Amino acid sequence: MNRKEREKILHDQLADNYELIRESQANGRYYSLEWVRHLLGLLPNKPFVKILDLGCGTGIAYEVIREAFPKMEYVGIDLSEKMISVGKRKYPQAQFIVMDCENLEFSDGSFDVIIARSILHHVPNPERSLREIKRVLVGDGAVVISEPHRNVFTFLPREILKMITGKFDKEHTNFTTSKIRSLFVTSGMRLDGIHYFGYLAYPFAFPDIIKVLKYFPFKLFKFLFRWDLFLSKIPVLNRAAWHIIIVGTKELG
Ligand SMILES: C[S@@+](CC[C@H](N)C(=O)[O-])C[C@H]1O[C@@H](n2cnc3c(N)ncnc32)[C@H](O)[C@@H]1O
Repeated sequence: MNRKEREKILHDQLADNYELIRESQANGRYYSLEWVRHLLGLLPNKPFVKILDLGCGTGIAYEVIREAFPKMEYVGIDLSEKMISVGKRKYPQAQFIVMDCENLEFSDGSFDVIIARSILHHVPNPERSLREIKRVLVGDGAVVISEPHRNVFTFLPREILKMITGKFDKEHTNFTTSKIRSLFVTSGMRLDGIHYFGYLAYPFAFPDIIKVLKYFPFKLFKFLFRWDLFLSKIPVLNRAAWHIIIVGTKELG
């Protein structure tokens, strides 16, 4: 079985966990929605309309994107049929399509904005996916990407979780700052900013991966989250983050 087939099976199996645990339990839901809000806040301040949610999962980002861009035309794509069917059921007004982010079935210049949270580390060829992102953006279109950040603090815990939980593929990767920067720049897009996200609260935000985390008190979780936002602004220290965020624009000029 190749990596994409494994990926599809894995996420068909995880779709219920996402919907019924991660996105329903208070900490997981709060974190996921605030994270999307944070990503949207890093985009240029324009009334974007055509928005692509790349590797959208169950479409959890939909409601937050709608809040930020009330006139939006949302399209969510994902390789997993099960994830897409959950999205369709939850948000029937939106468009959800089963599609591979390495082969986007859209014409050039179809979207104003692309949001790609936790998707590139799932694909065999992230360079190809980035080229597809560039192709389907309009000339002044923008992209925001959030991916697992690899550093001395995050590398080992991720490897251990991979071994003990069965919720990851052995080839799921994570990116150092220099690796993701160079992938992005090689795609030919303009890099507008690198940011970091996720410190103290992040490990408690995934009750679907470690079930006991659902008992972590919500008030304490929100307190840690406020610290996370503060830490993300402190130069150097902020690089200890679990996630790295890239903001960019299609055109170099
Ligand atoms: C960690 S989940 C993130 C989902 C969503 N973006 C979010 O933030 O909640 C990764 C998603 O990528 C999808 N995926 C993996 N490989 C893909 C591919 N080649 N094309 C499109 N989606 C893919 C998986 O099915 C899964 O739903």
